[in-house]
Amino acid sequence: MVRRITGFSKLTKEEKIDWLVKAFFNQQSITKDTLKKYWNTDEKLQTLHDDFIENTISNFYLPYGVAPNFSVNGNEYTIPMVIEESSVVAAASLVGKFWSTRGGFKATVLGTTKIGQVHFMYKGNKDELRSYFSKIKGELIASTAAITKNMRKRGGGLLAIELKDKTEDLDNYYQLHVSFETKDSMGANFINSCLEVIAAKFEKEDIQIVMSILSNYVPECLVRAEVSCSVEELVAGTAEIDPYEYAEKFKTAVDIANIEPHRAVTHNKGIMNGIDAVVLATGNDFRAIESCAHAYAAKDGTYKSLTHCEVKDGVFRFWIEIPLALGTVGGLTALHPMAKLSLELLQNPSAEELMKIIAVAGLAQNFAALRALTTTGIQKGHMKMHLMNILNQLGANAEEKEIVVKYFDSKPVSHSAVHDYYKQIKLKI
Ligand code: MEV
Repeated sequence: MVRRITGFSKLTKEEKIDWLVKAFFNQQSITKDTLKKYWNTDEKLQTLHDDFIENTISNFYLPYGVAPNFSVNGNEYTIPMVIEESSVVAAASLVGKFWSTRGGFKATVLGTTKIGQVHFMYKGNKDELRSYFSKIKGELIASTAAITKNMRKRGGGLLAIELKDKTEDLDNYYQLHVSFETKDSMGANFINSCLEVIAAKFEKEDIQIVMSILSNYVPECLVRAEVSCSVEELVAGTAEIDPYEYAEKFKTAVDIANIEPHRAVTHNKGIMNGIDAVVLATGNDFRAIESCAHAYAAKDGTYKSLTHCEVKDGVFRFWIEIPLALGTVGGLTALHPMAKLSLELLQNPSAEELMKIIAVAGLAQNFAALRALTTTGIQKGHMKMHLMNILNQLGANAEEKEIVVKYFDSKPVSHSAVHDYYKQIKLKI
């Protein structure tokens, strides 16, 4: 069987599928049916999705859930979340409600500056390079005028260009480090277009441009979200827990993530459960958000928690500081009907408002995880949610699901236990 092909991109969608199933699948008609089942019956909508990327042969669904009752700076939100993992949306909903009766979430944008770099090599005299840069700097900025015109009208644009000498780290290596304000757009295309024009203007015989590209590391595009309440309020309604002991244990869990990278990675993964879900639902770039968040978590030289906790004078405070480069205009945000719908659900936020909401989603998720981990453990709640996935995998119908869910209400859920019990009832029904 030939598993190589030339001219694949030129084939029609049907032809691509035909080749693929013949080359890689045993059950060819079942595979074809599966791929086609996920085609949208609305042809226009399907074409829209086909055109987002190349070689599209089908769609890949993820669940779209919502977490209501979030109060952020006094505004009420129902937060859209796209995620495949059970428990995440349920946890967000519980935590949203919990904090809505304790003053809600407070969030502040600390900065919105984004970065792009022209990387270049230069072997000549450093003073000559510095004087060439000072002389040409105005022209470099002017060269972007046509590209920045609309952005400047919206209050953004190119903020500054610096020459950076990196020759201590790599022989002959320098950068033009350029900062931008991109207002409500994520700004990747805008930044890259500006950089390429700057690079072309800057280049000369003894300057070799290596590449011009935005940096997804944006430590100055930063948001902070926090919650606080009295230590007593933290456990209100759960009489069996000592509030001070609980608050301290919670803080210790955060402290552990601050000094222990193995734990910090899992701790931050839980935060990203909340963040990525909203980033995806709003059509933003989750890979950019992920890589930046983890670089920020490691900014002090070791990988640490993105959240922080303090218990002082009877008050519990819990907060997150995270860089988030987001857009609420441009990119997929207007093109993808579900992303557009998510933004409408969030009352069409500015990029800064969306930064606040998404930071809150991350903080809420971490609160839920640490609350569960430091009390009951996560498996109890998690496996209950997982039960439905197992039952769906087994092909259980509504009646069978009801019987199994009832049975496991008071028993630990495991894949094999569910499997065995399901087999038993199958024989009886
Ligand atoms: C699971 O997706 C996320 C957690 O592991 C996060 C954590 O341990 O803090 C529960």
